[in-house]
Amino acid sequence: MSSMSDPDHVREQYGTEDRLQTRRSVWRPTVDGLDPETEALRAIDRALVGDAHVLEVGCGTGVMAERIAALPGVTLVATDFSPRFVELTAARGVDARQADICYLPFDDASFDVVFAGWMLYHVRDLERALNEVRRVLRPGGTFVAVTNGNDHLADLRRAAGGRPEITQFSSETGESVLRRRFADVRRHDLETRAVFGDHASAQAYLDSTGDGLVLPEFEGEREYAGAVTVFEAR
Ligand SMILES: C[S@@+](CC[C@H](N)C(=O)[O-])C[C@H]1O[C@@H](n2cnc3c(N)ncnc32)[C@H](O)[C@@H]1O
Repeated sequence: MSSMSDPDHVREQYGTEDRLQTRRSVWRPTVDGLDPETEALRAIDRALVGDAHVLEVGCGTGVMAERIAALPGVTLVATDFSPRFVELTAARGVDARQADICYLPFDDASFDVVFAGWMLYHVRDLERALNEVRRVLRPGGTFVAVTNGNDHLADLRRAAGGRPEITQFSSETGESVLRRRFADVRRHDLETRAVFGDHASAQAYLDSTGDGLVLPEFEGEREYAGAVTVFEAR
């Protein structure tokens, strides 16, 4: 298991936005033109019936929060552990609050939809986090979660002398984890593409992960495959 759910690592990673933005900037859609955030937004939209209360956990800089809040009839609360990310999300005009997914400051059954994008692999107590999601969702409500698979940038990590990153909530494990709490779990697997204009940008990506991987020099542009899954559970 990686250090991804180590609280010190998580605090250092997300105290400021630079590392997350370095990583987000390289991603391109699948060859079919699909991107995971748009697919997650579609899943959220499908789950909405009339006016709906939506909670985002681990909202980061608020890119998805702004898109979710723009869906018709949605009242959104976006939460993150990082005070800086709450500030950045609030600056987008979203109701943003600081909260740990393991201690959600909301009543039982107060949301129709909960969304978690690329964050469950960081949570120290995954079982407790998912119990909290289940608790704040109304019966029949929908949980949409996005995560990476073991093959995500595995070739880049190998080229830099590393190993694929195996996390606690991945494309491989997410379905069985969610089935313990949700009767109906669907998945949409996407092969995304990371495009690096040069060696420096690929190395900057690796540096942003804090894993100490060093990529041998190369000339020109390189592309590496990403493996992402959008889960829809109810
Ligand atoms: C990989 S980032 C993803 C951010 C955003 N969802 C996105 O896709 O850009 C993980 C986010 O989860 C947040 N996070 C990590 N552990 C958390 C926890 N226990 N409770 C709430 N947020 C947490 C981090 O602060 C960070 O914003």
